[in-house]
Order: sequence, then structure tokens, then C-alpha cells
Amino acid sequence: MKVLSAAAAFLLASTVSAQTLKSAAASKGKYVGTITDPAYINGSDRTYNTIALNEFNYVSAENSMKWDAIEPSNGGFSWNNADTVVNWAQQNNMKIRGHTLVWHSQLPSWVANGSWSKSTLTTVIQNHVRTVMTRYKGKIAQWDVVNEIFDESGGARSSVFSRVFGGLDEFVTIAFNAARAADPSAILCINDYNLDYSGGKATGMVNLVKRLKANGVPIDCIGSQAHLMVGQVSSSFSSTLSSLCSAAGKCAITELDIRAKTPISSSGLSQQQTDYTTAVRACVNLSNCLGVTVWGITDSRSWIPQVFSGEGAALPWDGSYNKKPAYSGIIAGFGGSSGTTQQQTTTRQQTSTTRQQTTTTNGNTGGNCSARWGQCGGQGWSGPTCCSQGTCTFSNGRRQTFASIVVEMTF
Ligand code: G3I
Repeated sequence: MKVLSAAAAFLLASTVSAQTLKSAAASKGKYVGTITDPAYINGSDRTYNTIALNEFNYVSAENSMKWDAIEPSNGGFSWNNADTVVNWAQQNNMKIRGHTLVWHSQLPSWVANGSWSKSTLTTVIQNHVRTVMTRYKGKIAQWDVVNEIFDESGGARSSVFSRVFGGLDEFVTIAFNAARAADPSAILCINDYNLDYSGGKATGMVNLVKRLKANGVPIDCIGSQAHLMVGQVSSSFSSTLSSLCSAAGKCAITELDIRAKTPISSSGLSQQQTDYTTAVRACVNLSNCLGVTVWGITDSRSWIPQVFSGEGAALPWDGSYNKKPAYSGIIAGFGGSSGTTQQQTTTRQQTSTTRQQTTTTNGNTGGNCSARWGQCGGQGWSGPTCCSQGTCTFSNGRRQTFASIVVEMTF
């Protein structure tokens, strides 16, 4: 009897340890992705590479395929870093999300500050999209064709593209048509953040995609970045993802991380585990959600502490590459084993609502600007309302509804 128990325990332990993020994802017909770049692939930190290969089956280049990296001067393409990522992924049987073709951030100054007419900027967009996608034709499964084009209320973010074309429709159409022509087999996505709850931005995305698709623009998928905060994953995360999926026909979670104030507490780690499960499960529950990309592996290499002072700890491995509860949270989201009981989940959701109330009531803390490349705005936002340069333009003043709380936010 004792022998049998030991054997059973061993079998169970082997089964558990054999499960990886990618095996859990595959069991639900999904992929699970991470990010890399040449510094991770060729650098001295071999652990990052090992985990990327063992646990993930999709990859995005964190920075190497952005416009400033790949076409720093007009017609002057720089392929080394992007080639390194593509070759590494191919050699290791990983599929690739191409990130990203048309984005206002990490945009070289020759584009951002050029003096363009519609016609000349059309040529620039078409040339960039065609050249990049043609080089990697058949090698990149999905492309973020346009990225972060909305402001927080769902209108057009101010950028060189929206200014020259007088809105979103025209340049988005140009970019997607060029993308389809360059690689008809690639899944073409429109990608943004703060699509994690119902509200103006998600509605703006759904409306634009429906309108353009009705006009024949080849948009295949909406990417929801999902840069989330511990304890504040909205109760409408799942339904909002579903509406994005329906509008485009397909969707994906493209940049998942769930940040906390640092150092993260043990209850924070536990809440983060639940939040990861919630986010991943939302994709699993949708037949047309393609998969989930986690925006990094280890907390020590995350973009977050650089941008959000005092925050981080957003990823499944800590800074010393120990698996956090978040790891099990992802496995559980993909239907693997999880120790989280319904009762614990309910308690956590209540805590989350309390936290949300505190944060939302405290609201906007005033006119401090975040670091370059920051993101700001969105549900529960209590951080900077502007940033020196880059992604962040705080522009929403909107009515927020969350659980029983209704707070008017004006900025
Ligand atoms: O290119 C310069 C280099 O010349 C300089 O020597 C170096 C010194 O710091 O900085 C380099 O720029 C860095 C850039 O990445 C390219 O490597 C910036 O400092 C760094 O802040 C920047 O951060 C990236 C950020 O995008 C820029 O917007 C992060 O690594 C990357 O994780 C992050 O990813 C974005 C997604 O693309 C879009 N959605 C939001 C997400 C998080 O911001």
C-alpha cells in the first residue's frame, strides 16, 4: 500500500513538473508567447533564453522590429536585430508576432517630424510595410500592423499619421492594404492597450474595425495588450475581449503583464496569480482568441520599473528566475491544475473591489509627468497625467463604472 502511494505520488509529481506553459496552452488549442531581442538571445543571461525555449511557443521582438530600429533613415533599412530574432525563432520552432509596423512611438524623427502631404506619407507607409513584411514573408505568423492609434476616449490619438490624414480611417486602410499585399498568409492585427474593460477606447476600437472591415479593409484580428494592475482586473475583461474578438473575427492578448507596487506582498502575489488566471481564461473561453503573449519572463527585465516608479513585479518569474504564483495562475488559466478555491477567489475579488474604490476615489494625482515611453490613463489610473515623450498622452475624462462605484473623472 505504501509502495503504491509513493508510486502514485511520483507519477503525480512527474505529471505536474512535465507541464509547461506551452503544453498547457496547447491543450486548449492556444499559443503562449513571450518577448525577446538579440540582447537576450546572444547575451550572457542564458536563463532567459532557456526559459523562453522551454515554456513558450510564440515570440515577439521587444524592440527590434519597431520603425526606429528597422528603418532609421528614409529607405535605409537595418535588419540585423530583426533577422536575429526571426532566425532564432525559426531554428527553435517558435512562431512569431511581428511588432509593430505603424506606431507613433519609437518612430524615427525623419517620419515623426517630416513635412508630409497625404500622398508622400502614403508612400512612406506603403514602402515601410511592404519592405519589412516582404523580407519576412511566410516567416511571421501575425503582424501588429498599427499600434496604439486611439486616445483614451476612443478618438484618434494625435500623431503624425492622424494629423496628416485627418483621422484614423485613411492611414489604417493604407497600412492594412499594404500588409495584405505583402504577405497574404499573415494574420493582420490592430493592437492597443486599455482595452481591458468596457469604455470609450474599446468601443472606439470595435467601431473602427467594424467600419473598416465593412469597407473591405483586411483587418483579421484585434490585439489587446493587457498591461494590467494587480487586484484591478476588471469584471468586464472577459466580455470586452469577447466583443473585440467578434468585431475583428479574431483576437489575441498581446502584451500581458500585471504590475504591483514593489516590493509585492505575499497577498499581492496571490492576487496576481488569480489575475493571471482571469486574463488567460478569458482568451481560452473564446474559440477565436488565438493565444496569449506575456510581455517578458523575469521581473528584472521588465519595462515597468523604468516607467512606473515604485511598481513592477509584473511577470511570472521573479528577478532571480524563481517561478512566482503567477506562473501557476497562467497554467490554471489554460485549464491546468490550480490550488485556488472558489472561496479564495471570491474573497480576493472583494478585496480587489475595495482597492479599486480607493484608487479610483483618489483618482488623478495631478500634473506630474511620467518617464519617457510611459502609458497612462485607464480604469483605476492614479498616476501621471502626461509624459515627456512617447506612448503616454493622457486624454480621457470620462465616467467610470466599476462594481457599485460610479465616479466622475475629469482631467
Ligand atoms: O534606443 C535607445 C538607445 O539608443 C539607448 O542607448 C538606450 C538607453 O536607455 O535606450 C534605447 O531606447 C530604449 C528602447 O526601449 C529601445 O531599446 C528605451 O530606453 C526604452 O525605454 C525602450 O523601452 C521599450 C518601450 O516599449 C518603448 O516604448 C520597452 O523595452 C518595451 O518593452 C516597450 O514595449 C511596449 C510595446 O512595444 C507597445 N506597448 C507598450 C509596451 C510597454 O511600453
